Amino acid sequence: MIELNKRPVGVFDSGIGGLTVVKSIVEQLPFEDIIYFGDIARLPYGTKSVATIRKFAYQTVKFLLEQNVKAIVIACNTISAVAKQDIQELAGDVPVLDVISAGSAASSNTSKNNKVGVIATPATVNSLAYPKMINNLNNQLYVSQIACTLFVPFIEEGYILHPALEIIASEYLQPLVTAKIDTLVLGCTHYPLILPTLEKIMGDDVTIIDPAIATSVELLNILKQNKAINDQLHPPKYKFYVTELSKNFNKIGELFLNKKLDLPELVNLDCY
Ligand code: DGL
Repeated sequence: MIELNKRPVGVFDSGIGGLTVVKSIVEQLPFEDIIYFGDIARLPYGTKSVATIRKFAYQTVKFLLEQNVKAIVIACNTISAVAKQDIQELAGDVPVLDVISAGSAASSNTSKNNKVGVIATPATVNSLAYPKMINNLNNQLYVSQIACTLFVPFIEEGYILHPALEIIASEYLQPLVTAKIDTLVLGCTHYPLILPTLEKIMGDDVTIIDPAIATSVELLNILKQNKAINDQLHPPKYKFYVTELSKNFNKIGELFLNKKLDLPELVNLDCY
């Protein structure tokens, strides 16, 4: 049996977006081995039904538990919004962290004018997970949400600085500019990849919250509490699994993590 602190951290998303969370985890916890799972074959999750998203998440978590992970990070807002409780039940004693709890906490004390915007997938917006959680923490805040359905396919295609993206983003974000929000939550883990475009449209007066940062700080605290921080002196191992190969996975992953990555391994989730 491998000691708890030597076990990897499991991180998963519907695609490459969760790599933005991996980046933050690597910054906070540079010696942790990480297993990343991206369900690229079945992306996007954000336009699917709650039942389908729960079934997909269940299969991935079973796979991660088989890899003996010591903590699971749901690096997908859509899954966090609709399946967190199921995942924690399945994971038993293995701690489960999600980007919505961490992102809501980070945004609830940032706004000065009490106007917060959330951009996310349709499934996350429809779940009302962000407004409910943010208002539980601070009921003075008015939360406006926009579903930005086209962002995920653009980003998965690698069009992260494309002029067409800027036109679409301006259209989506206009109601939030008009509402004069001063805090914008990136409620989808793909969106930090298009941060320069979002910053340009929202302007300097809007603080943009990336829930990945708060999530990785929470992971650091939980691993400390559980005496599960890896103290290895070797460079950490990062292992990537996907359900379909994507030409952009390594390109975006390497750009983001600033190092050459091994090719991801294909996994068939049908037997889970
Ligand atoms: N990255 C996922 C999220 O944070 C959404 C991508 C998808 O629609 O599959 O919500």
